Amino acid sequence: MTTSDGINFLQRSENRNMEPSPESRGIPQPPLEYPYDPAATIIPLPAVCEINIPSRDFYTVMENRRTWRRYTDAEISLNELAYLLWCSQGVKRVTSRPVTMRMVPSGGARHPFETYIVASRVTGLEPGLYRYLAINHSLQQLAAGTQYAAEIGEACLSQAHIRDCPVSFWWGAIPERSTWRYGTRGYRYMLLDAGHICQNLYLAAESIDCGICAIGAFDDEALNKFWGVDGITQFFIYGASLGKKPAD
Ligand SMILES: Cc1cc2nc3c(=O)[nH]c(=O)nc-3n(C[C@H](O)[C@H](O)[C@H](O)COP(=O)(O)O)c2cc1C
Repeated sequence: MTTSDGINFLQRSENRNMEPSPESRGIPQPPLEYPYDPAATIIPLPAVCEINIPSRDFYTVMENRRTWRRYTDAEISLNELAYLLWCSQGVKRVTSRPVTMRMVPSGGARHPFETYIVASRVTGLEPGLYRYLAINHSLQQLAAGTQYAAEIGEACLSQAHIRDCPVSFWWGAIPERSTWRYGTRGYRYMLLDAGHICQNLYLAAESIDCGICAIGAFDDEALNKFWGVDGITQFFIYGASLGKKPAD
């Protein structure tokens, strides 16, 4: 990767250099979320309106936000997990177009991410891998086991907070959802969209006294392999570890 690769990408993705998009050529839009097997184990999550979230002053939450890389041994409750998933990717409604309107903005409401979690210590959740089914606000169990946090920590240059945290969040980008409208420029919007998701997760975590650390340092090939994606039609670009804050 050289500087000119980056500049080439920026120039290539200028609006005036865009090829006609699949949308403008009449190609139907890709699904709003990946299909899932209805026979899989699905865990419904409590709606946020049913969860008692302590009210916090918004400015104080923003001011206290910071990155944590150590967590206590405490579990995260299912209510807390539901709140965190909702705040970062929850679907408020599906419009008639159809697009999803979520807790975060997204260029053209393309919302090109699938959210996955590695759960090690979430009350009532078997340790393992899960996918957040955002439209139904539920979890699909993908695999059970206690080894996954250590494995994904290795894929992220052996970052200990990923191995040790009760839960980590992972965002897999589906570029077709963005490029359907924006062509190559869609890749710019995906990267911007990812920042909104993680920022909401930071603020939601702070609002319930959890610590969090964004994760952008990883071996792309190893991370994509961990989640079983091809790195082209879906690839992982961002994640976050999360847990209860230790005494400072
Ligand atoms: C895009 C991005 C990627 C990051 N990746 C990592 C990471 O892989 N590991 C890590 O320990 N911190 C990571 N961080 C956290 C930053 O190091 C942290 O935000 C920065 O030091 C500023 O500290 P603050 O968040 O407490 O203000 C990342 C932050 C961002 C925004």
